[in-house]
Amino acid sequence: MSAPRTAAIVLAAGQGTRMKSRLPKVLHPLAGRPMINLVLDSALPLGCDPLVVVLAPGMEEVSRAVAPARSMVQKVPRGTGDAVRAAEEALDGFEGDVLILYGDAPLVTTATLRRLLARRRDPDRPDIVILAMRSIVGGEYGRLVFSEKGGLAAIVEHRDATPDQRALPLCNSGMMAVDARRLLEWLPAIGNRNAKGEFYLTEIVRIARAQDRHCAVLEAPEEEVIGVNSRAELAAAEAVLQSRLRSRAMEEGATLVDPRSVHFSWDTKLGRDVVVGPNVVFGPGVTVEDDARIHAYCHIEGATIGGGASIGPFARLRPGTRIGARARIGSFVEVKAAEIGEGAKANHLAYLGDATVGAGANIGAGTVTVNYDGFAKSRTTIGEGAFIGSNTSLVAPVSVGAGATVAAGSVVTEDVPADALAVGRARQTNKPGWAKRNRERRQAARDSRKG
Ligand code: UD1
Ligand code: MG
Repeated sequence: MSAPRTAAIVLAAGQGTRMKSRLPKVLHPLAGRPMINLVLDSALPLGCDPLVVVLAPGMEEVSRAVAPARSMVQKVPRGTGDAVRAAEEALDGFEGDVLILYGDAPLVTTATLRRLLARRRDPDRPDIVILAMRSIVGGEYGRLVFSEKGGLAAIVEHRDATPDQRALPLCNSGMMAVDARRLLEWLPAIGNRNAKGEFYLTEIVRIARAQDRHCAVLEAPEEEVIGVNSRAELAAAEAVLQSRLRSRAMEEGATLVDPRSVHFSWDTKLGRDVVVGPNVVFGPGVTVEDDARIHAYCHIEGATIGGGASIGPFARLRPGTRIGARARIGSFVEVKAAEIGEGAKANHLAYLGDATVGAGANIGAGTVTVNYDGFAKSRTTIGEGAFIGSNTSLVAPVSVGAGATVAAGSVVTEDVPADALAVGRARQTNKPGWAKRNRERRQAARDSRKG
């Protein structure tokens, strides 16, 4: 017997007015990833096909963000039942399970969705499995109403509920798994005689029960099903996700000295025995290989850090950075679009942008790659084992050969051959006795004014 197929429909046509934002709500990021992509990430490992996102007219930006998932448009927002109908066409000829997800409920895990689908295959074969939660704060959720015999009888929306129903403990998360054929059969039967005048998807429970069909309930922790409707809820969801990402990093063998002060992106990868100090921010696209140390107060984005490297404290790594194994990037060093070779060092106060630094090179304090002339960016190449003296400006495009030395304080505008010494600064002159004479003259002048 072939495995049952799964389709997913992600509802996201809501306007999200409470965000007070120009950006569509579901594109607001959590851990650097748009909410709706997080929802799709959770569904993808289940092999959902078709995978459909229901959007409102004019949400092309969202449609681009979710591709290759198929976008379908609900012309007028007339409720969750109507939104699912907007995706009906994608279910033509489909047989199996349909997962209903919300674009603004981004914290549901693949494991929970798997349990939801698995529940459909239990011996009692429910046609619908509702994902429910016990809400501590109550909230304006739909409530699950059970019959005297104990089965799920209906879901009553908060606005339509009696005070007794509002006090019921189990709330509807909105997510569910439904038999595809039954869903298509029940959708047209949903009416809109309710407080909001909307076509509620939740009505399929009542319709199913009227046909003596079986509806089951699966409970999930509330933090997995919280919806994001406001900036405050966005921040709350971010906190949940950050805490998961920290736990994952530690489970995979990284030490976080002060976990709560480390901020991750959804795709941050830390190897084994990586140590991360307090107050480190990982933007998107960071990989840190085994045994590297990220000291306190670093900001890292779009960077790969080689094994055993040491970064910070107070370093900033920007996109396009590759730090070689055992290299050292010290305090107040900024690196952008640069490759730093194995064991190379830039220990203090430097800017390395659009550069290639060979293995074992030493970059002195205050070194700056002068990569921008107001119009274009140019590259700097520093050979293996080169020594760049402190306070050097490397005016790109320029290269320093392997094993070369650049004297401190140089402004390097011409290529330096391998193993050469480059001195690019005014020669020093000493004037013997000048300071003493000057001091005496000035002091005498001051004394005569006072006298
Ligand atoms: C819904 C559920 C409620 C549940 C709650 C959980 C219904 C009728 N109610 O209520 O039982 O407790 O979610 O958060 O399903 N959407 C569309 N088109 C529409 C309307 C909504 O795409 O016409 C999308 C929204 O973008 C959102 C989701 O469906 O992603 C839920 O819509 P929302 O209006 O927030 O439903 P609730 O009233 O919160
Ligand atoms: Mg809602």
